[in-house]
Amino acid sequence: MTTVNTIQTFGMLPVSQIPTFTNHSTKMRRFFSDHHRRRSPALQLFTIIIFFFLIHLSTAWRPWPNQKHNLTSLQFGINKKYEGSSEFVKLKYHMGPVLTTNITIHIIWYGNWKISQKKIIREFINSISNSDHQTPSVSGWWKTVQLYNDQTDLNVSRTVNLGEEKNDRLLSHGKTLTRLSIQSVIKSAITAKTRPLPVHPKGGVYLLLTSDDIYVQDFCQNVCGFHYFTYPSIVGYTLPYAWVGNSAKFCPGVCAYPFAVPDFIPGLKPVKSPNGDAEIDGMVSVIAHEIAELSTNPLVNAWYAGQDPTFPVEIADLCEGIYGTGGGGSYTGQMLNDKDGATYNMLGIRRRFLVQWVWNNVVNYCTGPNALD
Ligand SMILES: *[C@@H]1O[C@H](CO)[C@@H](O)[C@H](O)[C@H]1NC(C)=O
Ligand SMILES: *[C@@H]1O[C@H](CO)[C@@H](O)[C@H](O)[C@H]1NC(C)=O
Ligand SMILES: *[C@@H]1O[C@H](CO)[C@@H](O)[C@H](O)[C@H]1NC(C)=O
Repeated sequence: MTTVNTIQTFGMLPVSQIPTFTNHSTKMRRFFSDHHRRRSPALQLFTIIIFFFLIHLSTAWRPWPNQKHNLTSLQFGINKKYEGSSEFVKLKYHMGPVLTTNITIHIIWYGNWKISQKKIIREFINSISNSDHQTPSVSGWWKTVQLYNDQTDLNVSRTVNLGEEKNDRLLSHGKTLTRLSIQSVIKSAITAKTRPLPVHPKGGVYLLLTSDDIYVQDFCQNVCGFHYFTYPSIVGYTLPYAWVGNSAKFCPGVCAYPFAVPDFIPGLKPVKSPNGDAEIDGMVSVIAHEIAELSTNPLVNAWYAGQDPTFPVEIADLCEGIYGTGGGGSYTGQMLNDKDGATYNMLGIRRRFLVQWVWNNVVNYCTGPNALD
């Protein structure tokens, strides 16, 4: 689920609950211990203060309109954290299912879509399980998602297939969708008289993509996409689904960041998108975010952090805005630049993509295929 400010609360633990120096994750330990081998009480206090400072500022980052932004602090990396590394992140398994059988993604194209736009998104999805291309690869990115398993020790499937597609050009449920009416759009797609989308509850998921003139509840305020599951009372089945919107008309500076930048942070410069369509290239990372979370938390009772199951912090939420080594806060981390000036961090079938990293529960920080170490 894409949410705002979610892990800031981890910075508010009382001092007595702050773990000691030796408990810090590997990354943090490396960061501090190279310089300070002996641990004096003063040093320990210093470490705790710095650590607290970093954690307090470390939130999944997007330039949301309702947050205060300040270019000076962005440029000087005051918000910098280190790939989300944090002892405060307690990602837990809550015994529910993960998607262990071949995952099939059925797309519903709501509104008007260009062929060129559909192609970029299809090729991204087709790249997830294709290990033929060079590194850093999209399939390398998926390896972190595959680290999550269920109570029978089966891992998330390595196979992600593009399933069938349905066009809803005539807007069966209007130009403004709510979380509930999204479920009705899915119902229409699986019950259509002509070429309905197939229903196979094992490994079948639905991806609703809305064109740039469609407004969805909370879009741009605090979500660029989300995932959940359908209610049998509306759809007839419990099916995991995700929604991601094209932000071109409403908020490219928020949802297609860093390929577009918001007006409310003057002076910030966008980077060049790798496939010539900033908003679609921005959507790719949000789609990746939702697919990673759908697979590890399809019924919202498997892998998440936080106390509140109605407000779970999932594996991609923890790393939103991090695309490379050193990333955190408002700093994207080290990305790759091609000869044509495009910025990306992984390769897929015939294309380059920029996709956020995801939380790695084995090492306890965000990882991705373009990591430098
Ligand atoms: C931006 O943030 C920096 C550091 O926090 C502060 O010194 C500066 O005054 C702020 N600038 C504005 C315009 O708010
Ligand atoms: C799952 O995908 C793999 C690799 O694409 C394929 O070999 C296998 O037959 C599939 N399994 C099922 C049950 O469809
Ligand atoms: C499956 O999950 C376990 C536990 O996280 C991990 O150690 C193992 O490497 C994973 N297997 C694959 C193929 O990723």
